[in-house]
Order: sequence, then structure tokens, then C-alpha cells
Amino acid sequence: MRLDKLLADMQAGTRSDVKRLIKQGAVTVDGSNKVSPKQQVDPAVQKVCCLGEEVRYQEFVYYMFYKPGDCVTARHDALHKTVMDYIPDKRKGLSPVGRLDLDTEGLLLITDDGMLSHNLLSPVKHVEKVYEAKVLGRVTDKEVEAFKMGLDIGDDSLTKPSGLTVLAKGDVSKVRVVLTEGRFHQVKRMFSAVGMQVLFLKRVAMGGLWLDDALVPGEYRQLKEEERKLLGVQITSGSRRGNG
Ligand code: URA
Repeated sequence: MRLDKLLADMQAGTRSDVKRLIKQGAVTVDGSNKVSPKQQVDPAVQKVCCLGEEVRYQEFVYYMFYKPGDCVTARHDALHKTVMDYIPDKRKGLSPVGRLDLDTEGLLLITDDGMLSHNLLSPVKHVEKVYEAKVLGRVTDKEVEAFKMGLDIGDDSLTKPSGLTVLAKGDVSKVRVVLTEGRFHQVKRMFSAVGMQVLFLKRVAMGGLWLDDALVPGEYRQLKEEERKLLGVQITSGSRRGNG
């Protein structure tokens, strides 16, 4: 691929930024800065550096986003801000993995790796999602047992056995819920089925990937290599592929 495209795709700057960097001699291919923007490079075998840092090529990008509770999980929306409005990277195919309700906050993956999205969302893969919630009323062993047995939330089948742990007791209970499926408004509907109301909902983990404590709502960062591996993204020398 062209050197300027590789650098721009890897977020080294816009196409014109990277052309300028190349002209200034800040970009090297296999140690030489005698390079041109349109030069073809093979990232699997050649080492590209920009401002002294190695630029490792990734076929896809993977962002961990802390969704705030005031935007919709969609690419476009006529009424509300969308999660994509927070991501300046406008590459083709970049989309959120699954949905969180407008008022739900927390971990949302954003990627252009369609295979990984498919694998994480496929109902047969039973990918674990962890939520923390504040619920009106006292959550007791009765509700914990009901979540474990499966609940009738008005669908064709009961919900799959789900983990419910009370983190703090009181008139408003703080709980953790672990689901292995992703039905519409599932956490809220499960609490509604046991006569309780969710006041606040945050997703803290998905597929073993935990929301980074350092992020605040509206912030995002790229996944680290070990985090991509955790999700089943195969890391090879030049390109990456989701293997589920
Ligand atoms: N369950 C819900 O009720 N809402 C969400 O956004 C996610 C899970």
C-alpha cells in the first residue's frame, strides 16, 4: 500500500500532514528517510517509523469508548448526538458493536472489523456482558435466585441463567449483572419482571474486556494488543483478523 495511506490510516495525521512529515524527513522505511508519499510499502516485512516511533500496521481499528448516557448508539440520528460524533476517525465501516440504550453508559467497542462484531454479537457465542446498576428497592436472595433460574420478560423463551450480585444494600441497591445474551432493554426488563426499576445502568465489561478506569464519559482509546487478543483478534506480523 502507499506509504501516505498507511500512515494516515494508522492515525499519524491527515494525508497532507503525513506528506509534510515525509518531506521533513520524519518518516523512515527500513531506516531510510529517502521516501516518497506514493511509495509502495509492505507493512508485513518493512519497518515504518514516524518521528522515531514504529508505526505498526493494523488492518482494522478497535476503539474502547466510554459511552455517556446522553447519546444514541447509531451512526446517524436526526434528534440526538450519536456515539460516532465522539470519534474523529471517519473511516469507512467504523461502527459500534451492539447497542446500549440512550440513557445507559459505559463500555462500547467501535471497530471496522465486521467479523469481530459478528462474533461478539452472535447469540451462539454467549459472550459475557457485565453491567453495574442502581435499582430502586432492596435486592434480595429472591431476585438473585430468579435471575439464576431465568425470567419471563415477555419473549418466546425465558432469559438464560444470569448472575446477579448485590454490591451495596439499601433503599437503592447497587448490583452487578452478568448476561450471556443481548436482548432489547434486557437488564431493565429483567428487573421489571421482578417488580423493580433500574435507575442507572452502566456496562463495565464485554467478552473479558473491562472498561478502562482512566476513561471518563465521552473518551475513547485504541485497544492494546493484549486486549485485542482477549477478544479473539488474531495478531499476525502485518495484518490482523478476527477469528472468533
Ligand atoms: N440492558 C438494558 O436494559 N439496557 C442496555 O442498554 C443494555 C442492557
